[in-house]
Amino acid sequence: MTDPTDVDIHTADEAAWWRQAAVYQIYPRSFADADGDGIGDIPGILSRVDYLAELGIDAVWLSPFYPSALADGGYDVDDYRDVDPRLGTLADFDAMVAALHERGIKVIIDIVPNHSSNRHAWFQEALADGRGSAARERYIFRDGTGPDGSEPPTDWESVFGGPAWERVDDGQWYFHHFAVEQPDLNWSHPEVRADFLTTLRFWSDRGVDGFRIDVAHMLTKDLTEPLPSRAELEAIDSTTGQHPITDRDDVHEVYAEWRRVFNEYDPPRTAVAEAWVQTPERRARYASAEGLGQAFNFDLLEADFDAAAFRRLITVNLAQADATGSSTTWVLSNHDVTRHATRYGLPPLNGRHVKQGTEWVAAGGPEDQLDRERGRRRAHAATMLLLALPGSTYLYQGEELGLHEVADIPPAQRQDPAFFRGGEFDGLGRDGCRVPLPWTAEGSSFGFGSNGAHLPQPGWFAQYAVDVEAADPASTLSLYREALRLRRRLQTDEMLDWHDTGRADVLRFARPNGWQVISNFGTEPFPLGRDADAVVLATQPLRDGELPGEATAWLRL
Ligand code: NOJ
Repeated sequence: MTDPTDVDIHTADEAAWWRQAAVYQIYPRSFADADGDGIGDIPGILSRVDYLAELGIDAVWLSPFYPSALADGGYDVDDYRDVDPRLGTLADFDAMVAALHERGIKVIIDIVPNHSSNRHAWFQEALADGRGSAARERYIFRDGTGPDGSEPPTDWESVFGGPAWERVDDGQWYFHHFAVEQPDLNWSHPEVRADFLTTLRFWSDRGVDGFRIDVAHMLTKDLTEPLPSRAELEAIDSTTGQHPITDRDDVHEVYAEWRRVFNEYDPPRTAVAEAWVQTPERRARYASAEGLGQAFNFDLLEADFDAAAFRRLITVNLAQADATGSSTTWVLSNHDVTRHATRYGLPPLNGRHVKQGTEWVAAGGPEDQLDRERGRRRAHAATMLLLALPGSTYLYQGEELGLHEVADIPPAQRQDPAFFRGGEFDGLGRDGCRVPLPWTAEGSSFGFGSNGAHLPQPGWFAQYAVDVEAADPASTLSLYREALRLRRRLQTDEMLDWHDTGRADVLRFARPNGWQVISNFGTEPFPLGRDADAVVLATQPLRDGELPGEATAWLRL
C-alpha cells in the first residue's frame, strides 16, 4: 500500500518542477555519437532517451550545441538560433525535445550572453565596418595606449590567460574576458538586449523548458575612462554592485526583462544563473522571482569531504533560499571541474582541484596519489546526501557511472584553451571530465560511436561502461537509479532538521515526511541501533547494524 505521506511532488505543481528537480547535464559532444564522426550529437542523445528515463532524472541541461569553431568547447557561439551541423539540425533538436517530453523529462539549454564567437555575423560586421562604425558598438572596442596605440587599453588578463584585449587590423582593440575567440558583447546596446529576447523566445517556442545562463554575473560593465589598472581592478570591492566588470546591480535590469519573456509562457520558462559572486547574498539576487529564479550554488563543489563544512554550507544555503523564496541547487561535478570521484580520492586540496573564493576551479591532479576506491566511496556518500537535500541537484554525465577524471591525455589531443593558455585553470585544464562516455565494455570507442572519439578514452573506461554497470546491482549506476527512484517520494519543498549524532564526523537530518539521512564522513563505523531496520538505501552494506565509514544511508521512519 502506498504511504499517504509519500507524495510524488512532481505531479503536485507543474510550474514548480524546477524547485526540487534532479537535473542531468549533457555535454553533447561527449554523450553519444550517432553519425560516427567522433563527436557526440543530437541524434545520439535521441538514441539514449530511454537510458535517461530509466535513470530517473527530471530534466536534462544541454551544454551548447550551437554552430561554433569550438575554441572553448562550444561556449563560443556563432549563431544562437541554430544547431551545429556536426551535431544535427533543428529538426533533430525538435525530435529530441519531443522524445524527452514524452518521457516526462524537461529540457534546459545553455545561453551564452556575455560573449559571442568571433565568427558571429555581428563580430564579422564589426571587423569589416571598421573603427567608429555602428557595428563596433555591439562589442567593446577601444583605442590602444602608448604613442601609436600599440599597447592594450589596460593590462587586464583574460580568464584563460594572456591579455584581455586583442588588436584588430585597423589598430583598435576589443575586450574578451575569456578566449580571444570570445569577444564580449556590449550589454548597454539595445540591439544586443533585443536579440537575446528573440533567442529566448525562439527556443521557448520550440518547447524548451528552461535556460542555464553562462557567466550571468558578467554581462553589464561600466568601462568609463580612465579605466583602472589590473591591480586597481582587483582591489575594487565586488560586493557593492558597482564593480566595473562583475556582479553589477544593473545586470538585474537585463534579467527583469528576461523574466517578462519567461512569464509569457505556460508554464513559465525557468532559468538558473551561473554566477560566481562573492557572497550567498549577492547570489540570491540572481535567484529572485523577478529575475532568473534560481542560481547555482557551487559551495559544496568547492568544499572538501568534511562533515562540518557540509553542514555549515547546507545550512547557509537553505536559509538563503528560504529567505528569497527560491530553492537552492547542489552541484558536485560539471564540465568545468575535476570529477568529484577523483577529487575525493586525492589528498585534500593537494590535487589543486579547486581554488577558493570566487575563482575558477581547476582540473587534473597527481594520478599517483589518487585512491580510486576511496574517491568512489566518498562520491557515493556525498551524492546520496545531496540528493536527499531540499533543492535541485545537478548531476554531470558520467558521474552516474562513478567515472574518474582522465588525467592522461596527450597534449596534442587536448582541446581546452585553458590548458594551452594556462590562465585561472591550473594544470591539465578541463578535458579530463569531457572524455566521451563509455556505453559498452566492447566495441569502437566503448559504444560512444562507430568511429572513435574526439578525446581519447582510457582502457579502464571498460569497467565503467553502462552495459557493465546496468548488469551489476552493486554498481554506481544501480545506486543512482535506485536513489533517483526513491527521491521522488522523499523530496518535498520543506526544510530539514539536523539531529545530533554525538559524533562530529557523522551528520544526520530528518525531512518532515519521515525520511532521514545519515552520512558518515569519518572512517569509524557508526552504530545505527534499532534504526538499522529502517534503512532503505545505503551506499555500502551495513555490517552488524553499523553504517561503515564514508557512507550514507537513507531511512524511512
Ligand atoms: C562558463 C562555462 O561553464 C565554461 O565552460 C566556459 O568556458 C565559460 N563560461 C565561458 O563561456
